[in-house]
Amino acid sequence: MSDLDIEGMRAMTPGCANRNHLNNAGAALLSTVTIAAMTDYLQREALIGGYEAEAEAADQIGATYESLAELIRALPTQIALFDNSTHAWNAACYSVPLGSGDRILTGRNEYGSAVLAYLQLAQRTGAEVVVVPDDDSGQIDVAALADLVDERTRMIGLTWVPTAGGLVNPAAEVGRLARAADVLYLLDATQVVGQFPIDVSAIGCDMLTGTGRKFLRGPRGTGFLYVGPRALDRLDPFVAEIRSATWAGGRSFTWVDGARRFETWENSYVNVVGLGAAVRQAIDVGLDRVGRRSAALGARLRAGLAQIGGVTVHDLGREKCAIVTARVAGVDTGDVADALSRRGINVSTTVAEHNQFDSEVRDVHPMVRLSPHYYNTEAEIDQAVDVVRAIAAHR
Ligand SMILES: Cc1ncc(COP(=O)(O)O)c(C=O)c1O
Repeated sequence: MSDLDIEGMRAMTPGCANRNHLNNAGAALLSTVTIAAMTDYLQREALIGGYEAEAEAADQIGATYESLAELIRALPTQIALFDNSTHAWNAACYSVPLGSGDRILTGRNEYGSAVLAYLQLAQRTGAEVVVVPDDDSGQIDVAALADLVDERTRMIGLTWVPTAGGLVNPAAEVGRLARAADVLYLLDATQVVGQFPIDVSAIGCDMLTGTGRKFLRGPRGTGFLYVGPRALDRLDPFVAEIRSATWAGGRSFTWVDGARRFETWENSYVNVVGLGAAVRQAIDVGLDRVGRRSAALGARLRAGLAQIGGVTVHDLGREKCAIVTARVAGVDTGDVADALSRRGINVSTTVAEHNQFDSEVRDVHPMVRLSPHYYNTEAEIDQAVDVVRAIAAHR
């Protein structure tokens, strides 16, 4: 049962008629509201010109910033738009002033691109990247983190919900530590935005990144960065260009106000408008309700899979979300995903090379990843469990 009108939501989601879509951690299904906003905007670009359509839609484009700010309880001036979450994260991380002997503290379940960026930053600056251990449940060990924070620490970088493993890291506990130590805190909320509520002040993060296409149900090729008041003047934006900076005459320039000093000039405005529509819809549906339902569907899936002989669920942490990862003993994970796909069920698989620090301590990848969203039905969850049961039975 749900306090959401699931059938109504599904009727507004054309993809629901074609697939049992359990790949919302990859990219969720667009709603008719978002599709209409984007096709209308594209028509205007075709009919009156790209720059002219942008000018005409200035309010709508502004509304995307306002909606994102409302979604995470920030101010519109604290939001910068990007073409994905990775570029948003890079804009923040590569702007943290670092020198030899400085330290970045991070978790074991960081996204693959973040790990590579940390390695490059360490090579480039001489800073050290320290991986904080997990506690017994598999979430970041907050006590160990507290012990590691010292005068060398320049930044704490954490993924709130990792790409794999069901885990919800204790983002607000880490935020309290970062605040107390006056250390910059970059939080990757890529898998959180649209899945459950976010309040940047309550969490205490200084920078937060999100993507449009996952649980937010926005178009592909969209992302955003939040930069809070403690961070703005401490960051040295890693690129100056005509959107982010202003020539001040002679050989000098100034940064533009707010988070837009991290943006680039050109944008896909059809995507920006689509993102705005998706965010508005998420707010209207209600992130509390979305969060409860997606977590409940995740729990149903996890419990169903765990009961199957030969299937092991490898999810971590005290609090778990709508991302479920598992393996079927004796069956190649790719074959499991293919078998589900042949039955019309969309899933994805994890890769050890994209979960580098996790792979150092757990030999679990590749796993099949199933990620429901609020518009999935209980019957779809049960169908996926039945198909995995049949795969396991025919090993
Ligand atoms: C936890 C996490 N962070 C960051 C990213 C990168 O997001 P994007 O592909 O929008 O750059 C992903 C993508 O799967 C992710 O799962």
